[in-house]
Amino acid sequence: MSVGSLTVRGIRTAYGAVTALDEVDIVASPGRVTAVLGANGAGKTTLLRTISGLVRPQAGQVLLDGADLTRAPAEDIARAGIAHVPEGRGVITELTVEENLRLGAMLGASRRKTRRGAQAERPSVQRGLEQVYEMFPPLAERRRRDAHVLSGGERQMLVIGRALLSGPSVLLLDEPSLGLAPRIVGQIFALLRGLVDAEGTTVLLVEQNARSALAIADDGIVLNLGRVVARDRAATLAADDALRHAYLGF
Ligand SMILES: Nc1ncnc2c1ncn2[C@@H]1O[C@H](COP(=O)(O)OP(=O)(O)O)[C@@H](O)[C@H]1O
Ligand SMILES: [Mg+2]
Repeated sequence: MSVGSLTVRGIRTAYGAVTALDEVDIVASPGRVTAVLGANGAGKTTLLRTISGLVRPQAGQVLLDGADLTRAPAEDIARAGIAHVPEGRGVITELTVEENLRLGAMLGASRRKTRRGAQAERPSVQRGLEQVYEMFPPLAERRRRDAHVLSGGERQMLVIGRALLSGPSVLLLDEPSLGLAPRIVGQIFALLRGLVDAEGTTVLLVEQNARSALAIADDGIVLNLGRVVARDRAATLAADDALRHAYLGF
């Protein structure tokens, strides 16, 4: 069995009196992109924060390959193989592109140490860097430059690349398309699709840009006011006019 089966079961998460998620069930599988769609305030970010242990649910479970991570500390969840790329492209602009990427590799090293001893660390960091540069050529060209020279699209490549260097089995992406030109969004999503097909990574892709997300996703889930209102194959959701008009904004 390939690793990275993520199961979210009956999750309820609240901020004080505000219930952000209620009775949410999701299954995300290796080699598949699952789009999580819905308007602003639907609960998409809270879902990712709940999975990665940044907020605690009041009810329900998060399982990775059957192991219950619901009460685990966020760092243990990261070490278990779940990489979270939050909204906003937090690159460290004073460090070079490669230094930013190596920060991701440090987490990967500590994960590998936990899993199977430290011997193989160095070669895999180098190999990981080369893979990221191959996937994102603009990063390769600028590897020695400070990250502040990067455009918005390149910063998005950098934060995804940094997450990939930790060798995740599950990648959680929060609104990677935000503020990017459509052509750049298309490029980044195509690269993401290629990654999933090549590596068998499990991806949860949170997006308000439903049209672009459904174009590369296998499956989709629509949240509204914290509840799942639709789930299906991505192509089926994209073809549902009533659903598109009511919840997806295209
Ligand atoms: N830190 C917070 N404190 C209080 N309420 C919050 C907080 N973060 C989000 N919320 C509320 O939770 C709901 C879901 O928000 P969020 O998960 O950010 O949705 P989305 O990412 O889909 O826009 C919204 O009603 C939002 O106002
Ligand atoms: Mg959000």
